[in-house]
Amino acid sequence: MFYEVAKRDHGLPHDPFKALVAPRPIGWISTASAKGEINLSPYSFFNAVSDQPPMVAFASQGRKDALTFIEETGEFVCNLATFELRDAVNETSAPLARGESEMTLAGLTPAPSRLVKPPRVAEAPAALECRHLQTVPLTPLSGAEARYFLVVGEVVAIHIDERFIVEGLVDTAAMRPITRAATATISWRLPTRASP
Ligand SMILES: Cc1cc2nc3c(=O)[nH]c(=O)nc-3n(C[C@H](O)[C@H](O)[C@H](O)COP(=O)(O)O)c2cc1C
Repeated sequence: MFYEVAKRDHGLPHDPFKALVAPRPIGWISTASAKGEINLSPYSFFNAVSDQPPMVAFASQGRKDALTFIEETGEFVCNLATFELRDAVNETSAPLARGESEMTLAGLTPAPSRLVKPPRVAEAPAALECRHLQTVPLTPLSGAEARYFLVVGEVVAIHIDERFIVEGLVDTAAMRPITRAATATISWRLPTRASP
């Protein structure tokens, strides 16, 4: 089949785009506001974008709390979302009021980070401490106002649960990371609210 995105003439019940860029890792981003309010949210428009130095990026649909907090304080943490923590990951996508912590809502334990202020999720087997580099508004070809904002950060410190270091290598599979499969395939996916 062939379709033009602008015409949306794919004839399928869901737009297949996200079924074709899959799976997408989930950045489970913890942030702190200038006042010290905590936010934790999953982002599947997320990935590592470089190493030496390591950098990650995620895209926020609109200016959500994570983006606002990062711009206030310049720091964030990417926690590894795992199968064991899948329900908590989903719960932390709740659109809580600024100042209400999704970490508390989901019954997670904040653990102190070493180089940045936002706490990491103690239950997560790995976490990347990051400093904000830039936010890029994703302006479309049409010139319409950007709906998404790409947040890029440099990873400055990394936590790995020692239980997952085996013979000098990280046993990623044993951590059971979860990914966003797609919205238009028949594969297993997180039961989520409508979200990217
Ligand atoms: C698995 C999953 C992936 C998500 N990925 C994104 C994403 O890439 N970009 C985005 O803007 N929202 C995404 N969301 C929704 C946000 O997590 C949600 O809007 C956010 O937590 C709202 O919190 P806030 O209003 O306190 O910032 C995702 C939700 C789930 C459950």
